[in-house]
Amino acid sequence: MRKGEIIDLHVEDLAFGGKAVARAEGMVVFIDAAVPGDFVRARITRRKPQYAEAVIEQILELSPARQQPACRHFGICGGCKWQYLPYQEQLKYKQQHAADALRHIGRNSSFIAHPILPSPQPWHYRNKMEFSFGSSPSGSIEVGLHQKGDFRRIVNIEQCMIQPSVLDDVLGYLRDEINQGALENSQRLTPYNNRNHTGFLRHLVMRHSHSSGQFLVALITASGAWPELESITGRFTARFPACGGFLWGVNDGLSDVARIESLRFMKGDGFIEERLNHQTFRVSAFSFFQTNTAGAELLYDTVRQYCELEGSENVLDAYCGTGTIGIHLSRYARSVTGIELVPQAVDDARCNAVINNAQNCTFIAADMRSALRSLSASSQPHFDRIVVDPPRGGMDKKALRMLIELGAPLIVYVSCNPTTLARDLVTLAEGGYEPDDVQPVDMFPHTYHVESVVKFRRCSQVAPA
Ligand SMILES: C[S@@+](CC[C@H](N)C(=O)[O-])C[C@H]1O[C@@H](n2cnc3c(N)ncnc32)[C@H](O)[C@@H]1O
Repeated sequence: MRKGEIIDLHVEDLAFGGKAVARAEGMVVFIDAAVPGDFVRARITRRKPQYAEAVIEQILELSPARQQPACRHFGICGGCKWQYLPYQEQLKYKQQHAADALRHIGRNSSFIAHPILPSPQPWHYRNKMEFSFGSSPSGSIEVGLHQKGDFRRIVNIEQCMIQPSVLDDVLGYLRDEINQGALENSQRLTPYNNRNHTGFLRHLVMRHSHSSGQFLVALITASGAWPELESITGRFTARFPACGGFLWGVNDGLSDVARIESLRFMKGDGFIEERLNHQTFRVSAFSFFQTNTAGAELLYDTVRQYCELEGSENVLDAYCGTGTIGIHLSRYARSVTGIELVPQAVDDARCNAVINNAQNCTFIAADMRSALRSLSASSQPHFDRIVVDPPRGGMDKKALRMLIELGAPLIVYVSCNPTTLARDLVTLAEGGYEPDDVQPVDMFPHTYHVESVVKFRRCSQVAPA
């Protein structure tokens, strides 16, 4: 098999990361956009000693498992790549990937893998969307998502089937307003170009409350004047009374992420409220909040069950964000201590504790390692339960070892990345923790991503550091 060679392949499986798997000449070939059961003619694009990669040239036989993708932007937009699989099939593969990662990378199969919990809403489930600005060939301004295979190009999105429908209307309205403004001021209202770092319009971030129907809009630009934004805000809020906040953020950073260096509140104070399992949380435009609200309720319910709380336990909520998990648990525990790096999220967490009358919660704004160092050095309560919910990259190894040394009988690990979860499982096992139960939860339908909750029980003494 050589790069450029065309071969016919029977697709057998889907790998974590979304690529399809076939075999040729005793080697695994990863294929983009294929489905198990497909028979394809494919071109080898990469040849490594252990595996090859290929793209489809022609589908010779369609898999009976395939379905027609529902979204009009499918295949061009880089999101929701699994739409050609029926939802039940997507769940089957996610379940398999969550458990396989622990078995193969984590080298452990002593756990019970429970059937995946489906997202209560397979469509319109996302409460936060982040769009970018671009230009059409005719020069009009487009607002959309990154193109499949070319991150620098923007696909003009008219309807996104994973966001609440009202946000489609908002997207269309703002696109029209901005194009109208650009007709009058074409020099200033230009999309930001990530190659040469020129232009003005960067991102549009929207956050929607599932429970109240309210939403927040944040327009992010490079620095510069935008005097017309005042009147745009007036017209917008008259057209959309459910708009709880309209913000203008400025970002002159080089990277293509929707962060802000300064913020102006055009309307509202920058927060909306969301209800999760009968509790109310303040959500700001840029703090971390689980993007699938109804899915988050299932996720947090699972965490509560896995914590086996009886009311007398001191709980550590590591990587607590805006305090949602800890505040959920606070009703069933003696105390909750949350640790979070982002000070704004900690402010939200403290405010959320007040809103929910969770007086037994304390939140620490610090990096995990330094917070754990001070907790171990102080006479803080012994922790009976630890919940960890780190970012996609998993836990820093030193921080994980410090956490193990706290010696809690149970650690509940929430992860959005089976690979880093499996890597951390190895360190936890070295520290005397074994996984009892694994509960995958689908928070991201139509993508290959899967969330997992794992209950680790301390089986032996902590290994010396
Ligand atoms: C996956 S989110 C979980 C948030 C929260 N548990 C929830 O369900 O909404 C991970 C959180 O870890 C925080 N974080 C990232 N690195 C950190 C570090 N080194 N120390 C403390 N917190 C960190 C992020 O700011 C983010 O809020």
